[in-house]
Amino acid sequence: MQRSIIIGRPTITFDTIDSTNDYATSLVSNSNPNEGTVIWAHYQSKGRGQIGSNWSAEAGQSLLMSVILQPRFLMAYQQFTLNILASLAVRSALNSFGIQAQIKWPNDIYVGKRKICGILIQNILQGKSIKNTVIGIGLNVNQNDFDQSLPNPTSMKMMSEKTYNVANVKSSVCEHLQDYYLRLKEDGFEVLKKEYLDLLYLKDQESHYEVEKNKIKGKIIGISDLGKLQMEVEGEVREFNFRELRYLHK
Ligand code: BTN
Repeated sequence: MQRSIIIGRPTITFDTIDSTNDYATSLVSNSNPNEGTVIWAHYQSKGRGQIGSNWSAEAGQSLLMSVILQPRFLMAYQQFTLNILASLAVRSALNSFGIQAQIKWPNDIYVGKRKICGILIQNILQGKSIKNTVIGIGLNVNQNDFDQSLPNPTSMKMMSEKTYNVANVKSSVCEHLQDYYLRLKEDGFEVLKKEYLDLLYLKDQESHYEVEKNKIKGKIIGISDLGKLQMEVEGEVREFNFRELRYLHK
């Protein structure tokens, strides 16, 4: 019989760590942690972002966590499902604090035109299935000042003029992840995909993008089952991978 899991049990907490994702990925390769284990740090000295970038946050001002899951019911080609799961969970957690957010494909969380949360998912595959996954979440909670190099950051505090208890935000993210994970197992991918599409930033709106150094105007119309972004460009439907497209929405 399958064990029921509780996301956040156990939670391994660090004052300072290099990266919660690095710790979690080495934990899954060197031992057999419980599904639902969370690594939580107040500060990361070498936080990782997407496509080899850094993720930096002031000590104690942001939620920096990684969740270990074992979604063995998913095949490797269904990896995008985990982006949907994580984005919906963070979006709902923010909603529970009164902050209305959207999902910028593939898995950034935006409030208006500003990024409030980044998600880095690392999958460990076994044959054609997913053996382990590490979902890293960097959510800006009370931070007011950001590195000048970031184009459009924001935080929960900047959006609401309130200060939040980071541990409460973590608990809410864990609860919503748990809820969506169960729904994914029970209801399947399509239900979550529909919810994701309803919350997709710039969906059905003409906007500007850069593709292979060319500026294009297009309208996001959906995502493929493999997670490619589907866009109507000059009357034609085109599909893009993450690295192929840049949003020019600033
Ligand atoms: C992005 O570039 O948008 C993804 C950022 C993900 C950052 C989080 S912070 C917690 C976890 N540990 C890391 O090293 N990265 C992720």
